[in-house]
Amino acid sequence: MKAVLVAGGAGYIGAQTCKQLAASGFLPVTIDNISTGYRQAVKWGPLVEADIRDRYAIAGTVAKYDIRAAMHFAACSLVGESMQNPVKYYDNNVGAAVSFASSLIENGVKNLIFSSTAAVYGLPKTMLISEDHPAIPINPYGATKLAFEQALHWIACSSDLRFTILRYFNASGADLDGEVGESHDPETHLIPLLCKAVIGSGAPLSIFGSDYPTPDGTPIRDYIHVVDLAAAHVAALQRMLSGGGSGIFNVGTGVGATVAEVIRTAESILAREIPYRIGPRREGDPAVLVADPSRILHTLDWSPRFSDLRTIIQTAMWWQENRFY
Ligand code: UFG
Repeated sequence: MKAVLVAGGAGYIGAQTCKQLAASGFLPVTIDNISTGYRQAVKWGPLVEADIRDRYAIAGTVAKYDIRAAMHFAACSLVGESMQNPVKYYDNNVGAAVSFASSLIENGVKNLIFSSTAAVYGLPKTMLISEDHPAIPINPYGATKLAFEQALHWIACSSDLRFTILRYFNASGADLDGEVGESHDPETHLIPLLCKAVIGSGAPLSIFGSDYPTPDGTPIRDYIHVVDLAAAHVAALQRMLSGGGSGIFNVGTGVGATVAEVIRTAESILAREIPYRIGPRREGDPAVLVADPSRILHTLDWSPRFSDLRTIIQTAMWWQENRFY
């Protein structure tokens, strides 16, 4: 059976992608050290419990399964933490990632799909951000994702590794069947925090600033449902396996929502009031981050299907009320 090596397949986006890989006829083989992921999230294929730096584990896994491609989700992803501990981010998001890429090459895996982020763009200069927008990150998280993107470029020049870089906007929502979802510890993202505030399992929400140059003063983000995000990986894989070359794609919808709009939408769907207060701005938050998704829409067999705020909030809410990990 055609297999895909999924580094970080026990995490929020990795596990959702494993589910869709299985539905598309691939065996997802997860390699994960379970530092932030969950064993219970690995349901659609085997789990190799190892670090992505473990060359023996990777060699053994590639020898055992018919690995056609790899996906790399296994990174640290908290902007705030990256400001406090940049060494951790360079070590894991660059050092371990380069080691992983070199193990793939050593073992004859020629296709890699890499989870990057809109954080590589830094402070946007245009309303919609295309892939050609200058990449000048403003925090170590974005800088380390960009560093590995650049490493991939040079590694690909000197090997037969091809890559697809997916720059995610705001991943959100949960599996439509409730099988996997977002369980971060600590949780820092708006939508799960909002759900927890409604359920009463978290503190009242704090809106990080209401003095931004946006219509209601709160920041605008491009929320992409995790099921759509996972589908973009499968579409990228299909393109690579049918001979498509390396490429970089934004994964977003092209439509933004303010924090206040997210809260209002949630209140109307849930018919509940969301307890919140207005707090100070969070360091490093740009006012607006919205993708120009033209390239992915024209190149991959993909378009967002579930990224309306209603579906995002309903699935996220279901997960936070019923989550089993
Ligand atoms: N926000 C609040 N209160 C909270 C949490 C968030 O007001 O308690 C606001 C933020 O200021 C921001 C919006 O809600 O305007 C979304 O914040 P998230 O923390 O959910 O997401 P970010 O936009 O900060 O980060 C996401 C990814 C990062 C990535 C970034 C840029 O999680 O990995 O998008 O693409 F770097």
